[in-house]
Amino acid sequence: MCGIVGYVGSQPALDVVIEGLSRLEYRGYDSAGTAVSADGKLTVTKRAGKLANLREALAGAGHSDTGRSGIGHTRWATHGPPNDRNAHPHTDCTGAVAVVHNGIIENFAALRLELEARGHELSSDTDTEAVAHLLEEEVAKGASLADAMRRVCLRLEGAFTLVAVYSGEPDLVVGARRNSPLVVGVGAGENFLASDVAAFIAHTRDAIELGQDQVVELQRSGVTVTGFDGKPADVKEYHVDWDVSAAEKGGHDYFMLKEIAEQPRAVAETLLGRIGADGRLSLDEMRLTDDELRDIDKIIIVACGTAYHAGLIAKYAIEHWTQLPCEVELASEFRYRDPILTRSTLVIAISQSGETMDTLMAVRHAREQRASVLGICNVNGSTIPRECDGVLYTHAGPEIAVASTKAFLTQLIAVYLIALYLAQVRGTKWGDEVFAMIQLLGTMPQKVEQVLETVEPVRDLARSLAGERCVLFLGRHVGFPVALEGALKLKELAYMHAEGFAAGELKHGPIALIEQDLPVVVIVPSRARPVLHDKIVSNIQEIRARGARTIVIAEEGDEAVAPYADTLIRVPAVPTLLQPLVATVPLQVFACELATAQGHDVDQPRNLAKSVTVE
Ligand code: F6R
Repeated sequence: MCGIVGYVGSQPALDVVIEGLSRLEYRGYDSAGTAVSADGKLTVTKRAGKLANLREALAGAGHSDTGRSGIGHTRWATHGPPNDRNAHPHTDCTGAVAVVHNGIIENFAALRLELEARGHELSSDTDTEAVAHLLEEEVAKGASLADAMRRVCLRLEGAFTLVAVYSGEPDLVVGARRNSPLVVGVGAGENFLASDVAAFIAHTRDAIELGQDQVVELQRSGVTVTGFDGKPADVKEYHVDWDVSAAEKGGHDYFMLKEIAEQPRAVAETLLGRIGADGRLSLDEMRLTDDELRDIDKIIIVACGTAYHAGLIAKYAIEHWTQLPCEVELASEFRYRDPILTRSTLVIAISQSGETMDTLMAVRHAREQRASVLGICNVNGSTIPRECDGVLYTHAGPEIAVASTKAFLTQLIAVYLIALYLAQVRGTKWGDEVFAMIQLLGTMPQKVEQVLETVEPVRDLARSLAGERCVLFLGRHVGFPVALEGALKLKELAYMHAEGFAAGELKHGPIALIEQDLPVVVIVPSRARPVLHDKIVSNIQEIRARGARTIVIAEEGDEAVAPYADTLIRVPAVPTLLQPLVATVPLQVFACELATAQGHDVDQPRNLAKSVTVE
């Protein structure tokens, strides 16, 4: 949430900052702004709306390109409406200091009153502006910008990444981080700061992870990192294992289309090196020992949104293959109750970004109670994996479209791997099935590819439904979370009423919603589970009898559903537990196409941002 960029080097700073912001716009697009330091003063330009508005303003102003250091911001509004005034960067009264911010400064109201009492005039509604004034007070007393930042950070409560420039130190950018992401890009004679490596990947793949409560000074010649207390800090350097092409659309109209198409590769990459030649899994990288895994007596999964749906599916797999009790909870709810956790509880936190504040807080809540926490994350070096006892990375590559697609499929792969590995390590009554499933997992990239090759009719269907006001989704067993995911995709992309139900719950209320021609998508489980399969065939008949237009997702060869399907979408036959990997893909395509037909920007749906770093 909110994208931040900082640059010091020999290139025109404004160009580098704007290019960085264009790669971070998925983090928020309520407004955008830049501050560039040149000729002893700062030039600040900011506009409400998408980055295109800022580009237009800069072009109109005919900006000079002499500045070699600067900062930029793309905003997801928290405090104050998304207008020019509340856009970042914020400056103090003198215009000497400019600051951009991601997060929420919880004590900003008190700081604001204090500043006003000392004669400062604040012109925005944001929590951020107070920081610019506090920094200016410190530099006016003679502090360097870095010292000022350290002093000010000690006064702030909440979560923040701050990046600032000061006209008195033109070749310096200073950043600070607590609970919000900030990474350093290390170049030759130039250095970068950003919320995400995507912002500088075109310039360097060498990065430094910043820890909690650290301040970084960025100069052309190097990078210095200290704690808020000024003591030198240990930092971890790493090399980013993807290049700039991964952060570009690659010929697709939208990132989302590209990311849907990339799913077979993302699934394959996430499996890579984890299935041994002997057919057994090896997940040593997870950092949890086999002895620790043998001691577990309960699993709790915490996550948000799409990642939560992956968790719901994980529950079926874990309970079946390991016979361990497994609970799944929304991270935002988990931290406000008193879960019964012991040293033998394994908490699994699923998060694509590794920065979601609700999930991070749930991780901390679990660790405070001495449970072991295993993260499933996609972004290397992000906060959640750093705070977990163990981590299993998904290898989806950068996911830039706000709606999650390839990350979801790789999260499923990760939870299947963990469930099967636990079964392998602990022993299970399903030994043969576990072995067979591990082999089958290896074939999933081809199955997902098969779905993508046959998905054209789904696009036609989606376009034909672009005028609808509501679509319902039904599923049983793992098909239920798939239904929830299908509905979430449609809500967030097409702004349409969409609801997912457990098919068995229908008759307990939701069936009242069924009316003539209402589109209802039904995910049909594999015929290998006749108990489930036959029940859902009855459910399809029940809704059809009440006038619903049935859109049925069923495996190849399932003829029992054909008479009751107004539209039949075929997916490859795979065991029920693995079916979400193939059944979700048509729903992603459906939502994406329907929203596009309605004229929506599927990469940047309204009101949303990727990486939700506020609670
Ligand atoms: C929906 C979507 C969100 C995220 C959720 C968690 O398409 O992308 O629901 O899944 O905000 O994000 P992460 O996985 O980064 O913790």
